[in-house]
Amino acid sequence: MLPSKILVTGGLGYIGSHTSVELIQQGFDILIVDDLSNSSTEVLEGIKKITGITPEFIKLDLRDKKEVNQLFEDQPNLSGIIHFAAFKAVGESIFQPLEYYENNIGSLIYLLQAIENKGQKFSFIFSSSCTVYGQADQLPITEHAPIKKAESPYGNTKQIGEDILYDNSRSNRLLKVISLRYFNPIGGHSSIEIGELPKGKPQNLVPFITQTAAGIHDKLNVFGDDYPTLDGTCIRDYIHVVDLAKAHVVGLKRMMADEQNGNFEIFNLGTGKGNTVLEVIKTFEKISGVSLNYKIVDRRPGDIVEAFANTTKANKILGWEAENDLEVALKTAWEWEKKIRNI
Ligand code: NAD
Ligand code: WQD
Repeated sequence: MLPSKILVTGGLGYIGSHTSVELIQQGFDILIVDDLSNSSTEVLEGIKKITGITPEFIKLDLRDKKEVNQLFEDQPNLSGIIHFAAFKAVGESIFQPLEYYENNIGSLIYLLQAIENKGQKFSFIFSSSCTVYGQADQLPITEHAPIKKAESPYGNTKQIGEDILYDNSRSNRLLKVISLRYFNPIGGHSSIEIGELPKGKPQNLVPFITQTAAGIHDKLNVFGDDYPTLDGTCIRDYIHVVDLAKAHVVGLKRMMADEQNGNFEIFNLGTGKGNTVLEVIKTFEKISGVSLNYKIVDRRPGDIVEAFANTTKANKILGWEAENDLEVALKTAWEWEKKIRNI
């Protein structure tokens, strides 16, 4: 019998590449599929430099149902999937909702149909997001916090995606699902061989900070300092991407060892600690020695005030917790930025 293989969709992207490294290092045989819409095959080199192994890679657009079915026919030994592939730009999704629904929901359905057609036990990890909570009424946010109406089509694709997985896990009892709700992933691998590679102007805080420090932008805009927080800026739970990646491996092992409680589980992945935007800037200045040119501007529409995770469920049930703090995460983000800019 062929050894089982794990399909990593979007495995050349930011979180997918870091998770691929952890999977390989834990002895998993992986197959990466990616359409390269937000990544490049150079990432394979980075993964090889860290692990000594070039993972199997197929360029494939998961919006093509035929191709997805063909993939599953050609790869009969697939036994699990970590599904990262999706569009993820919140602002863009407001102007291109149909593209977001087509990719983030269409691809998910094709994958689940192909899995169901196999008629075998299958483990599925879904990349969800803290965005499903919106502005939670209680902090830190537990997995029981109510889902708020999504602020964007992107956010809605995560809510709908979880509903589809839940419904399918009830009809297909051979399917096991873990949905991981990420808080704010930042940083890169300590080897500096892989990291975050945003296309165009970054929308997220940390890549904007590192690019500003690298001289790519004149200044960083801080969106509002009149929020009801310690220093008036918003609070988020910034989690190092390698910690996040490790949680996927733990989740996968849990499902494969039949240790799951039922066949659909949700876990928050964060550090449990919130930091304001100004705290992130100050910490970055401390670890880099670079003084950042930043300016307080108007609030960004759609921003929530405060979000950080209650991580008790992941700690207790997965035995997982974030090991790296904000300083470590920012250091790796800065080292990576310097490397790709030849600084
Ligand atoms: P990313 O854009 O770096 O990675 C996604 C990868 O999927 C890219 O390599 C892209 O080329 C690929 N892809 C997209 N559509 C595809 C398709 N139709 N077929 C094949 N490949 C396709 O994004 P990321 O930050 O690594 O995010 C990974 C997942 O985690 C996404 O589902 C995202 O929504 C989710 N997530 C990300 C964050 C974050 O802040 N980065 C937070 C919460 C959840
Ligand atoms: C963090 C803080 C900004 C940029 C987004 C998605 C969410 C999830 C994670 C995928 C906020 C402030 C930012 C800048 C700033 N992704 N900021 N100047 O908004 O928590 O969440 O990424 O699922 O769905 O919405 O992250 O990094 O954009 O912002 O002041 O140039 O930094 O206002 O307070 P956010 P972010």
